[in-house]
Amino acid sequence: MSQYPYVPGLEGVPAVESTICTIDVENRRIIIRGKSLEKLAREHSFEEIAYLLIYGKMPDSDELKHFSNNLALNRNVPDEVVSVLKSLPANTHPMDALRTGVSALAAYDPELDDTSVEANRRKAVRLIAKVGLLTGNIDNLLLKGSWVKPSQGLSHSDTILTLIKGEKPEAWMCRAFEILFILYVEHELAASTFTARVIASTLTDMYGAVVGAISALKGPLHGGANEKATEVFEYDVEGAERYVREKLVRKERVMGFGHRVYKRGIDPRAELVKELLEEACKRVGDDRLYRVGDHVERLMAREKNLYPNLDFYAAALYKLMGIPPRLYTPIFVASRTAGWAAHIIEQQADNRLFRPRAIYKGPVET
Ligand SMILES: CC(C)(COP(=O)(O)OP(=O)(O)OC[C@H]1O[C@@H](n2cnc3c(N)ncnc32)[C@H](O)[C@@H]1OP(=O)(O)O)[C@@H](O)C(=O)NCCC(=O)NCCS
Repeated sequence: MSQYPYVPGLEGVPAVESTICTIDVENRRIIIRGKSLEKLAREHSFEEIAYLLIYGKMPDSDELKHFSNNLALNRNVPDEVVSVLKSLPANTHPMDALRTGVSALAAYDPELDDTSVEANRRKAVRLIAKVGLLTGNIDNLLLKGSWVKPSQGLSHSDTILTLIKGEKPEAWMCRAFEILFILYVEHELAASTFTARVIASTLTDMYGAVVGAISALKGPLHGGANEKATEVFEYDVEGAERYVREKLVRKERVMGFGHRVYKRGIDPRAELVKELLEEACKRVGDDRLYRVGDHVERLMAREKNLYPNLDFYAAALYKLMGIPPRLYTPIFVASRTAGWAAHIIEQQADNRLFRPRAIYKGPVET
């Protein structure tokens, strides 16, 4: 075993070969199936990108229509699953409820244990549709004990946002939300995606792998950061500076900064969201959130040489849209389910069980 270098956290260690996504750090580009994520987010719908991830190519217009209809047809959840979720205490975190919901949904999938590519693709569509619906409804269930049927004829991201807001939001908000939703869809081998692939490599079912991925995503070092990143945006510029400086003195992490892959530069997704935030602030006639974000970005660069990741500006934009912080990470789940599904499909199509080794540091009886 000693011929292999030990790298804590597997930093920089390739763990799979994949045709799904790569991060071109030098050129600050994220490539999904050969295409720039930023360009995809600006020019295409979530449905097209989910199709690209699941089927490996962009859909033609018939394929897109069929895929979107399929999502709409699957935007329902068995009453029994709704009952399970209604029975949870109201103070359950939406991420825990979502994880429970996905686990319960597994019991109703007729192809649960079929790990063929075709069955996995069909399950992916069902999961994307149902996880989106659960995400939109999770606070209705937990806080009001109610379940709202989705409006017909809306896109996937509009459906989720409409359920969260309780009414159809303005067009600019739908567009900003969809771009942000797309930016969250896939990011190579993040901890949750690696988790999904490790679970999938045992040839267990897709739902189980997604449940594991949701658990990994909840952590504040990963997806949970966007909920925590919102704290700084409670303040004005001076208050935000004080908040950050106090955190640094206490040697605490400022959420939404730093990234294992983009060590010393802004996450390209964050740049685009910053732009969206600036536009949105102009639209609502109040630029406080933008000024706070920009100020904290400069402060962190000066003090720590650390730069914003997607979660930082996403938190500000969600706040501007009036979305409760506890739903930020569930929205991440709803989007990333498409990315996770693509990785699970790829893993099971050409599987090798993950079974690394540990460097034993404990005692050995003689
Ligand atoms: C994402 C993250 C885990 C990546 O970590 P990493 O590249 O492995 O960096 P490390 O955890 O090794 O940290 C390196 C140094 O930078 C500091 N650091 C990293 N991120 C920091 C942050 N957000 N705030 C303050 N300090 C930070 C660490 O304390 C450490 O300092 P030290 O060497 O004095 O101990 C880390 O940057 C972080 O915790 N960020 C906040 C959570 C977050 O936003 N997560 C979402 C990621 S998309």
